[in-house]
Parts: sequence; C-alpha cells; structure tokens
Amino acid sequence: MTKALLGIDVGTSGTKVALFGVGGELLASHIGEYPLYQPENGWAEQEPTDWWRASVDGVRAVLAKAGGVEVCGIGLSGQMHGLVMLDKDGEALRPSIIWCDQRTESETEDMCRILGRDRIIEITANAPMTGFTAAKILWVKKHEPALYEKCVHILLPKDYIRYKLTGEFATEVSDASGMQLMDVAKREWSPEVCDKLGIDMGLLAKMHESQDVTGLTSAACAEQTGLPAGIPVVGGAGDNPAAAVGTGVVVQGKAFTTIGSSAVVYAVSDEVRIDMAGRVHALCASVPGKWTVMSCTQAAGLSVQWLRNNVCTEEIREAEAAGIDPYILMDRLAAEAPIGSDRLLFLPYLMGERSPHPDPDCRGVFFGLSGVHGRANLIRAVREGVAFSQLECVEVFREMGVPVGDMMVTGGGAKSPLWRQMLADLYGCPVSVPASDEGAALGAAILAGVGTGVYNNLPEACGQLIGKGDTTMPDEASGMAYAPYFELYKQLYLSLKADFKTLAGIGR
Ligand code: XUL
Repeated sequence: MTKALLGIDVGTSGTKVALFGVGGELLASHIGEYPLYQPENGWAEQEPTDWWRASVDGVRAVLAKAGGVEVCGIGLSGQMHGLVMLDKDGEALRPSIIWCDQRTESETEDMCRILGRDRIIEITANAPMTGFTAAKILWVKKHEPALYEKCVHILLPKDYIRYKLTGEFATEVSDASGMQLMDVAKREWSPEVCDKLGIDMGLLAKMHESQDVTGLTSAACAEQTGLPAGIPVVGGAGDNPAAAVGTGVVVQGKAFTTIGSSAVVYAVSDEVRIDMAGRVHALCASVPGKWTVMSCTQAAGLSVQWLRNNVCTEEIREAEAAGIDPYILMDRLAAEAPIGSDRLLFLPYLMGERSPHPDPDCRGVFFGLSGVHGRANLIRAVREGVAFSQLECVEVFREMGVPVGDMMVTGGGAKSPLWRQMLADLYGCPVSVPASDEGAALGAAILAGVGTGVYNNLPEACGQLIGKGDTTMPDEASGMAYAPYFELYKQLYLSLKADFKTLAGIGR
C-alpha cells in the first residue's frame, strides 16, 4: 500500500483535508465549507461541530479518492486564536469566538490594568490583543459567568479536531503563542499570566512542540472517519506557522506573505524579537528552537469576498455560466484600472485591524470615490489596499532589522497574478509561489512526517519536498507609481483614527 501523510487545515471559509505521498505529492484533497456568523458589528463566531463535520467529510472523501493508502501520520493546522470551550462531556458550550472577533477591547484594558502592558509583552511577546484568546476567555468569564463555570477544557480550533480524532486535550507551541497565556521565550504556559488573569491552568491543553506525537486516532474516530485507529496525530501548527513549513520558510532569512481570509507576513528568527509598539506579533515557530515575527491584516480575502458577494453579482453569474471562479473575472476587470485606481484608495478594516494598527474600532473606507469609478476601480482599489497593508507591515519588519528579501507568496490570494505583481512592485523584491499551493495542509502533513520518523527533520524535509513555482519580478516604474498612493494610504489611518472611535461609540 502507498504510504501517505494526512494534513487537516481548519480554515475560516472551510476545512481542507489533503492526503500526500511521502514524496510530498498530492494524492487527494477536499474542501468542506461552513458559515461565519457575525451576530453584531465586529463579532465573529463559528460552530466547532461544523469544523468537525467538514473534517469527517474531507477524510472520507480523500480516502475514497486515493484508494488503498496507509496513513502513517496526521498533522493539524488551523485558524489561530479561536476560543473553544468544552464542558465535562466534551461538548462545546458556545460557538467559538474566532480570530477576527473584536468584542474584547475592554478586556485588553483589564489585562493591562492587572498585569501591566510591558509585563504582558515581556512574557507573551505580544501587546494585549483583542483578537488573541486570553481576552476572549475574560469576555466569556465576565459576560457569561454561568457558562464559564461549566467550562472544563479550553482549546484552539485545530486542537478541538485533535480531541475529536484522539480524545486528547493537547496543543503545540506555535498556535498556543496566539493565546497570550504563554511564556513565548520558554515555550510553556505562563503561571504568572494565568494566575493574575484568574484563568485556571487546569483548563489549558498539554503543551507540545509542533512535530511531537500528541495521541493516536481513537476507535470512535475510526468509526466516524473510516481511518484506522492507532494513527499518530502530531501537534501540527497554527495555519500561518504551518504554511511556513508548507512553503519552506523554516530558517532565518526566509519569509512569506499569505493572503487568505486574513493576510500575514511571516519571517523566521533564531531568537524572540518583540515589537514593543505591538504593531506585529512574535510567536514560537513550528520549528523547535525558532521563533517568528508575524503581521496580520484582519480582512484581506475577506474584503475581496465581501466585494464579490455585495457588488460583483454580475461576475458571479458570468463565472457560474462559464464554470470558472468569479475571482478570475474580478481580477481581469481590476487589471483594466490603472495603478492608484484613478485616485481611489481602500482601507481594509472591515473587521477592525491588527497590524500595524491594533485597533478594534477602525472600519473599511473607500477614499476618493467619484462618479467616474466603476466596478473595475473598486476591485483594484480593494486589492491595492490589502497590498498596501502588507507593505506597511514589511516596513515594520525592516525597521526591526528582520530581513525580507526572499519572499514566497501563498494562500488563495496568491492565485491572482495581479496581486502577486502588486506585492513584488511594492516590496521591491521578487515574490515566488511554491510549486505546490497546498500551504498549511502540506505543512501539517510534513510535521506529521517528521514526528513519525518518515523524515529526519524539518529543514531537511522542506529542502527535499518544497520547490519554487513561478517568480514575479518587481517593476521599478510601477513601484514608483504606487509610492504617492501608499504615502496617502498610511496617512489616512492617522487622519481617521479618532473618527473611527467616534463612529464606534455612536448608539452604544
Ligand atoms: C493570525 C490570524 C489569522 C488566522 C486566520 O494571527 O489571526 O491569520 O490564523 O486563519
């Protein structure tokens, strides 16, 4: 039987299950979608049972497609920071409050009051973040105390899937760094942070390195998924640290940009590097003994998806008739507009923002809208706004002395040639797509291969398995043409900061 490794990536728009041969070749994959609930402006929730249903469907689908394979190991990856709370029977107590939810501003203020902002940054390597899990836990404790009383386990999204696969309550350093309850330099939970915030450490999962085996598939899992019992499940990684493995970004000097629902710029470092201003994050990498500097634009693909669903209904119809993805038509239309989109700018703050402006109150803006603008301008402006946000973060990396010159680009957004060219022109360096665009799912599978002894270690496995695909070269003249728009883009947030707060306060 063909030996195979399974990667499960619990994303925001859907869960991808992918089966790979040990040479890294894709044998079969499946994506199961589910809804994102926004019960209030700035809130975002999903149902953990939806993630599990999509995982089960995906596993069954890939096993059927690939035929007789021997799955040697399973790796998990997933959207980071989401809060899953389980009762004593392992049932979810409420929908998960996910990464892009912004309801917790007052809890981050509580955290600063209790621990001191600088002490939080010293230990957790990040300024108190509305998007991170600790603030979400404090919110539930404050607003839903009866429910909190019943909570016996706190898990991250992919770790909930691990529990369903193995019955184990376990996590790993890369994703757990985004909970803001860890001593990131020591790669373990912080008793000081947990004690002072009143979060019982007994609720937290057992900590592992990303490549460690955390448990074996159970009989119950075998019955539901069709996988044999007893397959090792490794720690895996948050979706971005997993994508790092899947794009070969596992040593210092390498970086990638991923454009999925969010957009992230991610670089590896040999030691913890912290931005005291809180503009970018520091996390444990999914590679033992390495850390990462990472930015997060909350609404990247989410902005384009919003535009597609609300404005580009004609492209959706046309694409359906032609049997292609509406984003391809949107991309073609956007390419008809010039750089700067005929003086139209977009600030991508649909879900508030994290990098480089941690601000739950800011919201999306079209600036300069005129009667001459059509859909082509709107689409191009949205893509440019998301790309400007990446450059703004790369400027912070460069200021911190983190080299960003060898850039991979991945995620759904990397399929857009227009977006890739924008990034190359703005960064002023070549951007390459990986030969396989399986990103986080491949990274999770490689971690499983390292953990189960199929590969010796991560750098060696990535060296063997990850190749570069197309490279887009920067165009200097375009870079210069973008410059005045980028300067204005940066100014707009500063000009509007106070107004965003006023807007958020209306009717509260
Ligand atoms: C990273 C982050 C997002 C989610 C989305 O900090 O919040 O990239 O992981 O999947």
